[in-house]
Parts: sequence; structure tokens; C-alpha cells
Amino acid sequence: RIFGMSRDNSMGLDLTSAAVLDELTQAVKDCAGESFDVGPLVPGVRPGQDGGRPVTNPADNTEIIGTVRYATPDEVGAAFDAARKSQPAWDRLGGAKRAVLLNKAADMLEADLIPLIAILVREAGKTYPDAVAEVREAVDFCRYYAGQAEREFTDYVSLPGPAGEENTIGLHGRGVFVCISPWNFPLAIFVGQVVAALAAGNTVLAKSAEQTPIIADRAIRTLHKAGVPEDVAMLLPGDGAVGGELVQHPAVGGVAFTGSTQTAHAINHVLAMKPGPIVPFIAETGGQNVMFVDSTALLEQVTDDVVQSAFKSAGQRCSALRVLYLQEDIADAAIDMIKGAMDTLKIGSPADIDTDVGPVIDRRASDKLGEHCYHMARSCDNHYALELPADCRNGTFIAPHLFEIGSITELSEEQFGPILHIVRYAESQLEEKLQEAFSTGYGLTLGIHTRMESRWREVFKKAPVGNTYINRNMVGAVVGSQPFGGQGLSGTGYKAGGPRYLYKFATEKTLSVNI
Ligand code: NAD
Ligand code: ALA
Repeated sequence: RIFGMSRDNSMGLDLTSAAVLDELTQAVKDCAGESFDVGPLVPGVRPGQDGGRPVTNPADNTEIIGTVRYATPDEVGAAFDAARKSQPAWDRLGGAKRAVLLNKAADMLEADLIPLIAILVREAGKTYPDAVAEVREAVDFCRYYAGQAEREFTDYVSLPGPAGEENTIGLHGRGVFVCISPWNFPLAIFVGQVVAALAAGNTVLAKSAEQTPIIADRAIRTLHKAGVPEDVAMLLPGDGAVGGELVQHPAVGGVAFTGSTQTAHAINHVLAMKPGPIVPFIAETGGQNVMFVDSTALLEQVTDDVVQSAFKSAGQRCSALRVLYLQEDIADAAIDMIKGAMDTLKIGSPADIDTDVGPVIDRRASDKLGEHCYHMARSCDNHYALELPADCRNGTFIAPHLFEIGSITELSEEQFGPILHIVRYAESQLEEKLQEAFSTGYGLTLGIHTRMESRWREVFKKAPVGNTYINRNMVGAVVGSQPFGGQGLSGTGYKAGGPRYLYKFATEKTLSVNI
């Protein structure tokens, strides 16, 4: 049991069970026979269908999973009107009653595990283990924030004061929260933002990523089935232009955003220039994450952790390892072992249980990553890449790559895919290399492999980084155990799945009574 959770973390599925795998395989096949047509979920607005754009399977771009109709400016306006009207009653309901509905939504998501996995596999190219972890994380977010709403958003708390005076303080929602999410955790991050805003007493207009509206539609419908009113949680699918309409609306009470640092800057600018109330902006953004490995580290463990951190989810995790620093004494041995481990990775359809590396999300992503690999291959002497199997030709796949480079400063931006860069350093250069690694301005995740406790403690003290992992991989933060989020160019905080996340979604009121 994690502190702050109303229940244990969600259990997920046993993927070693033949019966479970049969059920999953059948669910993915059934899902392939269905067409999902989604659109704005706003009371009084007609649902999806006509005018819809195709949503394709990243593992096979010839397969259309469904369609999405983007929200129009009028629909954004109608959604704000409805959300503004419903917010005071939702806030007055209080944290305990909201928690009942959010816990119910958690149970319903958990019960819907297999169909949700099937959609994640087809719409987002998630492998089965990633899809299971994603549903578990979404469920955990619901239960974690429900627990906090119940504890901290129900009753006013007494404060000290002179005799005859009663002082209390309480937490409330801020109004209408706009939640904008990325495609790489299209259920977990989407649900996490929405449920946090709801738990704190806000009404929500959620914009899913353009690539993954179907799973978002399912999540919002689940909240409605759990009893969250339709004018309290609404879905406005669309691209960046729809996101722009949402954030510049005069009735925005706050924005929760997860995505690239570049988009966060654009939204921050819009909010700063907007007349009216000053509203909170919660941004969780990109990283240029590094891992340092010294000569005392256990190379078998390092190899496993590097491969997990760099290539799991096809490197499409904001937490993923981008630059590995190897002390020169062990660099050759470590690189050989990493290449050997790369050779065992199976690239292919995420609907195959043996697949380790599925597709990247779309053509734009594969083109960008492909271009980076092309340029790096021409400039790096030590370069290793896997071959793409022939059955990947209809999808947007990038094979895992390894490039040895001279310095992190050769990388101008985050490469959001299965590409690992390696830098060697001499023991005498450690301090300089740490400073160089931290000079990018990003501060999301950091890995350290060393058996010297004094070393990792010293590095941790200096690291301007949100999540540090010692002698383990650096991905897969667990709600309640590893609250997640970065610093600097990587985000504003507070951390998702942590004890303070809801505060930024809230406002405080005090009451002083002369009795
Ligand atoms: P993105 O910034 O392109 O898009 C994110 C969302 O913002 C999408 O819904 C998009 O439609 C919307 N958007 C785009 N332009 C907008 C605008 N001008 N106004 C309002 N909304 C706009 O990012 P992405 O490619 O979807 O996601 C990948 C990025 O997300 C990576 O950089 C990754 O590191 C980051 N990420 C960070 C975290 C974290 O917790 N720190 C988690 C996941 C992903
Ligand atoms: N929270 C996700 C992870 O830790 C991004 O990998």
C-alpha cells in the first residue's frame, strides 16, 4: 500500500499466462474489426463521424482504426460555457464525494483492462507490457488523487488565533481547467491530468493528442459512466490549433500541459499575454536525460538497465536515456555488452507478445529520427544499428541505434525515439562531464551506476534533475512511489503522482469568524 492511495496499486495482468495471452490476442483481433469514430464530447454537440480524419495504426499505416472529428471554435466556446456553469456545484460537492466517483472510474478502467490494451496496441503502437503498465498507471492516478481529494479537499482545517476568533482554511477548484496531453501516454497522462483537475474541484476541457483520440474518448466516457457529469468533464479532440483556441479563451482557470518544451513555451506566452486573471500553468515537458556509469558498476546490470532505459517503448518516453556516459576503463566492455543485448531485441508488431520494440508514432516522427540517424552515421566512427525486419515496411519503425559521440553539446535537441548516444570520460573528467550534461537546461531523469555510495550521493546533491535513479533503469515511475516530473526546460512541477500535485490545480480560502 502506497501512502496516499485509497487502495493498493493496480495489479495489471500476468503476461506469462497462456490464457491471458489468448484473451489479449482475441481482443486485438476483435478491435481490428471495429471502427471507432470519435469527436467532441460536449453536451448538446453532435458526436463524431462526418468530417472525421482517419486515425491509423502506427504498426501498419494501411489500417484505419477509426476517425476523429476535431472540435470547432464554436464547440470550444460551448464547452467553456457549460464548464463555467457547472464548476461551482462540482466544487461544492467536496473532495470526499468526488473521490467516490473517481474511485469508481478507477474500478471501471481496471475492469476494462483488456479492451483498453487492445486500443493502446492499435492506436498508439504500445507493446503488451507497455499497454498493461499504462492502464495500471491510469488507474493508480485515479485512486491516488481521489485519496488526496478526500483527505485535503473535504473539510476546512482549523488554524490558530486569539480567544474568540475561529480561523479555518480550505482548498477549492480554480474554475475551468484545460488539460492538453501527448500521444506517448495517451491514457495514463491523459487520465492523470483530467482526474487531478477534477479531484481538486475544477471542471475540465481535455484535448487529446491528434494521434490518439480514441483511447481518450473511451477514458472520458468511463468517467461519465462512473457518475462524473457530462458538463464537468468534456473532450475536445484536435491538433495544436484546437489547443491554441482552448488556452487563449478568456475563461481559462488553469492549464495542465504535457508535451514538448517548445509547445510549453508557446502556451506560456499565450497565457502571459492574455488579459484577465493570472492562471497557473503546469507543464511537464521533454528531457535530454543522461546516465553516468563508473568502473565500479556491475556491467550485466548496467547493460540491462541501459537497454530498458533507451529502447523500451521504442525510446518514446520523456524519461528515456538519451546520453550514456561511460568511464573509459569499462567503455569498450560495456559497449560490446550493450550491442550484444541490442541484438536480442525483437522489432515488430506490438500485437506480437515477443516484440520488444514497436513502431514510433507516425511518419513525421520516423522521418525526423531517420534524418538524425543519417547525419550521425556519417559523423560517428562507432555506430551500431539493428536491421528492420521486412514485416515492418507498412509501419513507422525506427531500429534501435547506438552512436558514440564526443559531447552532449553535439545534440541540439531531444530525439524522441530508440537512439542511444554514448560519451566516454576519464575519471579525472567526471566533474567537467557532469557540468556539461547538466548544462543543457533540461532536468528530467538521471541514472547513476556506481558501487560508491559517496559518489552517487555527491552527484545527486548537485543534479538539477527531477527524478534520479541509482543502480537501476530510469523509466517507469510508479504513482505514489516515484512522483514524476522535471525542472528547468523539463517542467514546472509539482510532480504527477506525488503528494503536492493537486495544489497547483487549487486555490485556498480562509475564513475568520469573531465568535
Ligand atoms: P507536442 O508538444 O507536439 O504536443 C503535445 C500536445 O500539445 C498535443 O496534444 C498537441 O496537439 C498540443 N499542442 C501543440 N501545439 C499547441 C499549441 N500551440 N497550443 C496548445 N496545444 C498545442 O508533444 P508530443 O510530440 O505530443 O509529445 C512528445 C513530447 O512530450 C516529448 O518532448 C516528451 O519528452 C514530452 N513528454 C513529457 C512528459 C513529462 O512528464 N515530462 C511525459 C510525456 C511526454
Ligand atoms: N512516467 C513515465 C516514466 O517514468 C514517463 O517512464
